[in-house]
Amino acid sequence: MDLGLADQSVLLVGASRGIGLAGAKAFAAEGCRTALMARDAEGLRSAAREAGAALAVAGDATREEDAARAVRETLERLGRIDVLVNLVGGSRGDPGIAAPDSDWDAVLASNLRAAVRMTRLVEPGMRERGSGAIINVSSIFGREWGGAVSYNAAKAALIAYTKSCARDLAPAGVRVNSVAPGSVLFPGGSWDRRRRADPEGIDGFVKRELPLGRFGRPEEVAAAIVFLASPRASLITGACLSVDGGQSRSLF
Ligand SMILES: NC(=O)c1ccc[n+]([C@@H]2O[C@H](COP(=O)([O-])OP(=O)(O)OC[C@H]3O[C@@H](n4cnc5c(N)ncnc54)[C@H](OP(=O)(O)O)[C@@H]3O)[C@@H](O)[C@H]2O)c1
Repeated sequence: MDLGLADQSVLLVGASRGIGLAGAKAFAAEGCRTALMARDAEGLRSAAREAGAALAVAGDATREEDAARAVRETLERLGRIDVLVNLVGGSRGDPGIAAPDSDWDAVLASNLRAAVRMTRLVEPGMRERGSGAIINVSSIFGREWGGAVSYNAAKAALIAYTKSCARDLAPAGVRVNSVAPGSVLFPGGSWDRRRRADPEGIDGFVKRELPLGRFGRPEEVAAAIVFLASPRASLITGACLSVDGGQSRSLF
């Protein structure tokens, strides 16, 4: 199916591996031009090559000046940003409610505030053109209880923020949605590390928690992101789409 995305310019923030890298490849396969951002320059360069990206911007999206530079360089190279995908996130172990402020600051900075900042930088251009799509990558643990306390709260906040943006930007023709992945495995990712550390424990987790009997693949989440970015999803805004193989227990 042609998704109608050809020639669109896409900025993916947090895209040197996993879901972001799969997303970059999926957008490229639809004929989009992509710009990728991540902190580690070497990993990013190799990801950009693999995904045929037009631009790679090494920088930290939790830092105002890096975020602004990523948007500036993308606009210089691609001319406009039609689609923004916010993927920066992750947790810091699980110290529960005893988590210190430093943990909360780091988790909120990456899972929530990076997306807030990137959106603030990109949406004026979309608003001016009267079109655009923003996709925020949350988690099933933004929709229901689970995961580290701070991660759970930050991902829920990202879903709430997505809804506010969607309501605000709808009159300007800009759609804003989130996706909520379940557990996604890829080499070098967090589940890969946990599986290496405790193969039997993770086998048990798969049997107990993953109804399909397997982890998700980055490409399966990327497919949902690309669909939500496309004109095929023209009536979908403010939604949070679970991509979890039935892992979550939420009814909504
Ligand atoms: N994997 C899962 O099971 C799963 C499940 C639910 C939700 N998610 C969410 O999906 C998103 C992607 O996760 P993932 O597991 O596919 O990949 P990941 O291993 O979390 O990598 C994320 C990407 O973001 C970059 N990144 C991290 N912090 C950054 C920062 N401050 N500024 C710029 N780039 C940054 C990383 O590269 P550098 O380290 O080089 O910066 C990497 O390219 C995250 O928000 C995660 O919470 C993942």
